[in-house]
Formats: sequence, C-alpha cells, structure tokens
Amino acid sequence: MIDLEKLVRPNILKLKPYTSARSQHLNGLLLDANENAFGSVIEDDNLELNRYPDPTQIKLRQSIGDYLNINQDSIFCGVGSDEIIELLIRIFCEPGKDKAAIFEPTYGMYKVVCDIQGVDTKSFELDNNFQINVDQFLIQELESIKIIFICSPNNPTANFINKKDIIHLSEKINGIVVIDQAYIDFFDERELLDEINNHSNIVLLRTFSKAWGLAGARFGFAVADSFIVKLLMNIKSPYNINKLTENIVLRSLKKIDRKNDILVKIKIERDYLTEELRSINGIKNVYTSDANFILFKVDNADKIHEKLINKGIIIRNRSNQLNLEGCLRVTVGTHEQNQKFIKELRAVL
Ligand SMILES: Cc1ncc(COP(=O)(O)O)c(C=O)c1O
Repeated sequence: MIDLEKLVRPNILKLKPYTSARSQHLNGLLLDANENAFGSVIEDDNLELNRYPDPTQIKLRQSIGDYLNINQDSIFCGVGSDEIIELLIRIFCEPGKDKAAIFEPTYGMYKVVCDIQGVDTKSFELDNNFQINVDQFLIQELESIKIIFICSPNNPTANFINKKDIIHLSEKINGIVVIDQAYIDFFDERELLDEINNHSNIVLLRTFSKAWGLAGARFGFAVADSFIVKLLMNIKSPYNINKLTENIVLRSLKKIDRKNDILVKIKIERDYLTEELRSINGIKNVYTSDANFILFKVDNADKIHEKLINKGIIIRNRSNQLNLEGCLRVTVGTHEQNQKFIKELRAVL
C-alpha cells in the first residue's frame, strides 16, 4: 500500500492553513469578515454577493457526490481543472528536486505549470496508437518522479488511454497518477471512478468547461483520496469558487437531461465530421475521436491553417507537437458550423 504522506512536500504536510472567516461561520450577525453590511452595488441579486462564498464548497461537493454516487470527502472543487493541476504540483513536487512525467503529445499546461513552479518534466512518447508504452516507461529511472499526468481522452489526439495500463502504472509507481478526464463525458462518465477507493494515488480531474458547456464559469473538480482532498483544501486560496459559479454549477446539476441531450448531438456531429473528413482526398489521416474534437493530418498544415483563418474558420494547428507533423485539430461544432468548415476545407485543400 502506498504511503501518501511520504509523497507530500514537508512544508505542505506541516502547513497550518489560513482559517477564513466563512470557514467558521456562514450564518448569524456576520461582522467578522470586513464585508459590506449595506449590501452590494448590484441590488437585484439574491446571491448576497456582499458576502464571501463558502470556502468548504459543501453544497457543490455534496451535489457532485450525489450526481456521481461518490463520497463528498473525495471531491475538491477548483477554478477549472487548470487550477487543480497547479495545486497538485505544489503539494507533491519539490522544485529543483522532484519530477513530473508527461506522455506526449498531450495537453500543454502540465509542462507550463511545472516550468512556472521550477519542477522538471520528463517526457515520454506515446506509441503509434497514442497509447502509453507501459513496459518501456517502467524500465526508466523512476525514483524522482513524484507525479504523472495522463490525459484520457487525450488532447489533442482525442483517444482514450487504456484503463488497464493506467491501473498497472498506478500500482507500480510510488507517486501520484493524475488522470485528466476533461473529455470523459464524451467517452464514459464512470471511467475509473470506482478505482479511487482501491488506488489512493489516483487523482481524477474533471471539468464543467466541455460537456456541461460552462467554460466561462471556470469550474472543475478532482476525485481523489480524502487525504489528498484535505491537502488541496489546505493550500487553495480561501474563497476559490465564487458565488456566481457555485450558483450556476448547482443549477446545471439539475439539468442533467439537457447535458445528455447535447452530448448526443455532439456525438452525432462528431460522426458526421469524421465521415466527411475521411471522404476528402487531400486528408492523409483522420484519427478516431473519443472526445469533442477531431485530429486530422494533411500535407501542409501551416498553409491550410492560415488559409482557413483567412476565411474566418479558426481551428488549432498542432503540427509542432511531438509526432504530430501535419496535424490540425477541429472542435465539433453545430451541424451548420461543421458543414461550413467542411466546405471551406475542401476549397483550400
Ligand atoms: C485536457 C485538458 N485538461 C484541462 C483543460 C482545462 O480545463 P478547465 O477549463 O477546467 O481549466 C483543458 C482545456 O482545454 C484540456 O484540454
């Protein structure tokens, strides 16, 4: 069994966290937090924005726990999953000493956040199917690796990473295994949720920015061992989730049918886009997608990308990432948007 305490930076383990006013009292004659007792300049809201939000995130954690049928002690809410990536590195990685492992090509923020924190990243190549070569990984010098980032479904390749490889890795490594599941709703919402109880070093990251359509609200959450959740709570800024976001997220958790309806539409459009892209002669490869975007390969990605921009069609050029020469990434749009994209792409190819 892994000893999580031993993985934590000593200063974080010792930390006496700040006690915010609202972590002690949310009700009563509140004269404790130097808020504005006369109200807010925005008069017509019933959110009491003059008051700080709940630092314990209790309603959000309860509601997400109910939704996913997991214990609220295993849930931590962040300002998007990006915030949680940063907090995890701060908890586990000693700058200049510990390392983070990433599997490329993947989401760029893991390395950027490590670079900001002064934590070295060790990069491993995904194989030809964009899967992890677990045996090759495990023969490396893994002593200094404290945290591993696995993105599944992976951005920008759009494929899921084999569950058995993830579990195997988590059992072999004496470190934290973060599975970034930003796109999991497009694959299988329950993926790995049940493993949290058996593997205390696995941390799942989820977001409301994709399937829930709330990128503007900045909300993500982690599912992890309650010890890790406590550490995250200790080091976050006291009031990280604001009341407007809390309100929107709680409301959206009552609209699960709407989310599921949209998911069905996105998957239909994903199939449509994949088929159309595969029917175009100038396209060399269209990768199967388990997410809400599609990666495809052309002969001259820079030129095609620029020509599309000139027509007002904005997609992502990923051709500079490891092993992605010639690759462009398009997000699944509405049917009209996808038709327009395909029409213009045919024209520029
Ligand atoms: C793999 C991955 N993780 C995390 C994020 C960031 O999510 P959030 O909006 O929750 O910060 C993104 C955004 O594109 C992403 O692609």
